[in-house]
Amino acid sequence: MEIKEPFLWGAATSAYQIEGARFAGGKTDSIWDTFAHRRRKIKNGENADITCEHYRRYAEDIRLMQKLNLMAYRFSISWPRIFPTKKGGINAKGLDHYDRLVDALLNAGIRPFVTLYHWDLPQYLEDKGGWTQRDTIQYFCEYANACANRLGDRVKNFIVFNEPMIFLTLGYLLGIHAPGRYGFKNFFRASHNVLLAQGEAARLLKAKLPNAEIGTTISATAAYPATENIKDINAAKRFDLLYNTFYLEAALYGKYTTDNFPFLKKIEKYIIEEDMDKMQFDFDFWGINTYTRKIVYASKIVPYAKWREKKTPKENQKTILGWEVYPEGIYDLLKKYATYDKIKKIYITENGAAFEDQLVAGRVVDTQRIEYLRAYTAQVIKARNEGAPIYGYFVWSLLDNFEWAEGFKPRFGLVYVDYPSGRRYIKDSGYWYRDFIQKNKIAPDFI
Ligand code: FCB
Repeated sequence: MEIKEPFLWGAATSAYQIEGARFAGGKTDSIWDTFAHRRRKIKNGENADITCEHYRRYAEDIRLMQKLNLMAYRFSISWPRIFPTKKGGINAKGLDHYDRLVDALLNAGIRPFVTLYHWDLPQYLEDKGGWTQRDTIQYFCEYANACANRLGDRVKNFIVFNEPMIFLTLGYLLGIHAPGRYGFKNFFRASHNVLLAQGEAARLLKAKLPNAEIGTTISATAAYPATENIKDINAAKRFDLLYNTFYLEAALYGKYTTDNFPFLKKIEKYIIEEDMDKMQFDFDFWGINTYTRKIVYASKIVPYAKWREKKTPKENQKTILGWEVYPEGIYDLLKKYATYDKIKKIYITENGAAFEDQLVAGRVVDTQRIEYLRAYTAQVIKARNEGAPIYGYFVWSLLDNFEWAEGFKPRFGLVYVDYPSGRRYIKDSGYWYRDFIQKNKIAPDFI
């Protein structure tokens, strides 16, 4: 494979996790504002009303990105900043903020990757049923349109959704993320609508901005059977289908792949007319977020899925969230996605690790994170040298931030954030990444 563009090394964040400024510039609440203020939903009763205050401190954060040598920065737009009410139209102040952010990034020589939806649906839409309602698709398209009109002259990479599978299972099936809904009915209805919104918004963006790259991001976890037994092999296949390929194939081919997992057929009930054509879209790139792997057994007692996950052996390294460190997993996934000839380009839009970081005399010695990043990036480079069409890699995350239901304890940043002062300190991993990028710019490890 001949590669003409430079490989982009960057870092990622999302609006709710870092911005704070809950009511600034006319913003109203998203489902995450509401959810975080509900009792016992977030560890230690925390919320992101303030978090890293990036909304106010973005210029300082861009200076940090420059110090880290970042070539690209992935962030998300907060939908309720742009459309704070259902009928009030576009809020110019909301767009002004992202306009300034994009200009400041470009001035700093950093390429912006803009995610439209990183989980913060306006609360007023949730009040009418949110993603379980088809109307939401139309509202999403209006929002995408407003972002394209304002930023499309400068932003060349748009990501429509972040990890549909994760926000749909955790938020609509299991109730542990916003909006805190439960049950298969909510899950399947919302999934179908999100896939439609993804296709429709992507088509709209591409028609408006033919020179931009339009992508979308999925979560992926390499899955392996616990034994050679055919039952376990099939359990791993079901896991892989649900978590790694179901949403992808719906968008790639305009069909629901349910062969190995007939339970998923329930989603077909929500299909009307040309839905399946509408959800199909030839994305310019796919974003892949991956952190760990899973080993699965078949299990008769677990309803529907019929698998259970094997516990990570004690001797294997884990992050503070209990996620096993398994660098080969990213390689296996990339090789797998590279076999889809309809996938033209891949960016790793998130990869990283949360460890117990300590700020001592202004320094954070996070050796484990350095080891993690070193090992995972080596696997990414290996996969690309073997021909996988990978064009960039983003560390999750630029800054320590609000890790959803887990609150502030898991720190993922290359930069340490001292709460509540908000003071930032580049961790040792940040300095390591800076040097890694520098070296790769001069003498890439790519063949
Ligand atoms: C992903 C999310 C991201 C972050 C990381 C740790 O699932 O997209 O916002 O929370 O996990």
